[in-house]
Amino acid sequence: MERREANRQEKRRKRYCLILAVILLVVILAIVLGVTLSKTRDDFNTIFMERCQKFKGYNCQKIWDAFQQAYVNRDRCDVPPEAYDPLIATAPFESLCNRIMFWSKTKEVVHDFTGKKGCFKTVEDTLLGSVLNGLKWCGKNGSSETFTTVCPTWEECEKSAVRSFWNRVSAAFGDAACGNVTVMLNGSIDTPFSPASIFGSIEVKKFKSPKVKNLNVVLVTQKNSVTNCTNESLQNLMMGLDKGIGYRCFEVPDSHLKECGSDPEKPCGVCW
Ligand SMILES: *[C@@H]1O[C@H](CO)[C@@H](O)[C@H](O)[C@H]1NC(C)=O
Ligand SMILES: *[C@@H]1O[C@H](CO)[C@@H](O)[C@H](O)[C@H]1NC(C)=O
Ligand SMILES: *[C@@H]1O[C@H](CO)[C@@H](O)[C@H](O)[C@H]1NC(C)=O
Ligand SMILES: *[C@@H]1O[C@H](CO)[C@@H](O)[C@H](O)[C@H]1NC(C)=O
Ligand SMILES: *[C@@H]1O[C@H](CO)[C@@H](O)[C@H](O)[C@H]1NC(C)=O
Repeated sequence: MERREANRQEKRRKRYCLILAVILLVVILAIVLGVTLSKTRDDFNTIFMERCQKFKGYNCQKIWDAFQQAYVNRDRCDVPPEAYDPLIATAPFESLCNRIMFWSKTKEVVHDFTGKKGCFKTVEDTLLGSVLNGLKWCGKNGSSETFTTVCPTWEECEKSAVRSFWNRVSAAFGDAACGNVTVMLNGSIDTPFSPASIFGSIEVKKFKSPKVKNLNVVLVTQKNSVTNCTNESLQNLMMGLDKGIGYRCFEVPDSHLKECGSDPEKPCGVCW
């Protein structure tokens, strides 16, 4: 009789201990998760502000507020490009005559070149482009917070916060094109100009004569290049331009770009 009672008590104690351990584990997990989550959120805002403050004469808090309103409280795949209109209005793109540089499939070469030379500006050299370059973010229906860990990939949905941002910013950057416009395309791929790329589907469509005078294609070639300026996709690019915009294509080896980009004697634009 007594032994059975003791046994029962022992069992009960064990069960309490187990429940206590589980609760403790859950609490610890929640704290760790909460800290890392709020940390990534804070990190995102910190990076945003730090990068923004490198540009003088802008109200970064106002830009952050305009940025956030585009995607917070929205489903992660339901952010249209227009949601960023107020952001573009807060940090507008000034017209950049003769110095604007577009690119497609030449990300490294083009930034190496514009970084050294300082003559041309890519979208990643503008305030909005540089602040958000390489970052990932999204919102959630029913929440006013910014998330960075559970966001859709580029392919996952057409109207993600990130994809709509780049589409909207690219349209604004295309609108800023003026005078001679340059684009660096990749000569090592079969089809250097793709109508489905951001350059082909958004930016080039914003070029209007007479504001834009010429489009200069710099086709970056490498040892393994498979194509040249006669490629049909480039002919299509030329024919699709607004009437009155001139077109030229230059085949430029990437080794030459590297050298010329580092040469302080060479003024802007004489690398091709
Ligand atoms: C062109 O594309 C290929 C394949 O994606 C890549 O390996 C190469 O670095 C690119 N060339 C340039 C100049 O960016
Ligand atoms: C978002 O929330 C609103 C209101 O709570 C609801 O009506 C809507 O269906 C939700 N949308 C999605 C995609 O969950
Ligand atoms: C623009 O390009 C044309 C030919 O492509 C050239 O003759 C002209 O000098 C260029 N103008 C500027 C300002 O770079
Ligand atoms: C350009 O490439 C085509 C084939 O893609 C070739 O027939 C032609 O000779 C090339 N032209 C030059 C100038 O290299
Ligand atoms: C040139 O462009 C056409 C169509 O735009 C593409 O199908 C072709 O394969 C390209 N490349 C070469 C090396 O001919």
